[in-house]
Amino acid sequence: MKLITGTLMALALATPAVAQDTLAVGVAQSDTLGPYLTGSDGRPVYRLAPDTQADDTAARATCTSEDCLQVWPQVATGASDTPVTAGDGVDADLLTTRDGDAPQTVTYNGWPLHYFVGDAGTDAPQGQKITSFGGDWQLVAPDVDAAPQDTAAPEGATASQGASGDASAGGQMFARNCAQCHGRDGAGTSSFPSLIGKDAAFVTDRLETYRAGERVGPNSGLMYGVARRLSDTDIANLAAYISTELN
Ligand code: HEC
Repeated sequence: MKLITGTLMALALATPAVAQDTLAVGVAQSDTLGPYLTGSDGRPVYRLAPDTQADDTAARATCTSEDCLQVWPQVATGASDTPVTAGDGVDADLLTTRDGDAPQTVTYNGWPLHYFVGDAGTDAPQGQKITSFGGDWQLVAPDVDAAPQDTAAPEGATASQGASGDASAGGQMFARNCAQCHGRDGAGTSSFPSLIGKDAAFVTDRLETYRAGERVGPNSGLMYGVARRLSDTDIANLAAYISTELN
């Protein structure tokens, strides 16, 4: 049963493109990261360094696997006649869609655009300078050829005294902040480790390691932004939930 649930979860999460009827591309400003492009609902927009910048029909996207698109969904339009509008500060001439079947990938100055799953429900962009799925991810500046902005980390976590964890609070946090990658039942996928059966000490140790920005495996970059926002209490709660409820 666990296996079946895990498979269904993985399918439900496989949203290779975020498509809608109209797409308004705008610009947001961060004190530490400078100006960056935004897509639907003001979500920050990223590009992947190894992609080739090319004309709109020939841009090469590196992130095409299901696992990659789960974490970095393409910015795309719902249909070929969907208008893509350029807001203040966006160079409309650089904004194009790639020819092909709907949904169409949106590019800016030739770069295929992506969202980051870790930005859901956060104010500050969490994906800047993450290394995953074959390269570095960068926010897209309105003048995309400008030098990349400062690498400062988003707002840090507020530390608080750890108590023994509250599994129910941990469960709520898990559903909001972790399930999109690890699965609601914690079973993971090929790119996201299963958390089933991990004990509290292990989970605590891993989360503290990621929070400190230290590498564990090849995709640790995806955990840095998540872990940075966790307080000691959050970690204790998550450890309590994972070790007692995900079996
Ligand atoms: C954007 C996707 C993503 C999100 C969101 C995410 N994780 Fe992860 N997590 C990963 C990846 C990828 C790894 C493996 C990283 C590596 O290669 O070191 C990982 C590793 C871990 C590990 C270590 C597992 C092991 O066996 O070493 C733990 C524990 C963990 N995550 C807990 C969490 C918790 C708790 C949350 C929510 C607060 C969370 N993760 C949110 C992607 C994610």
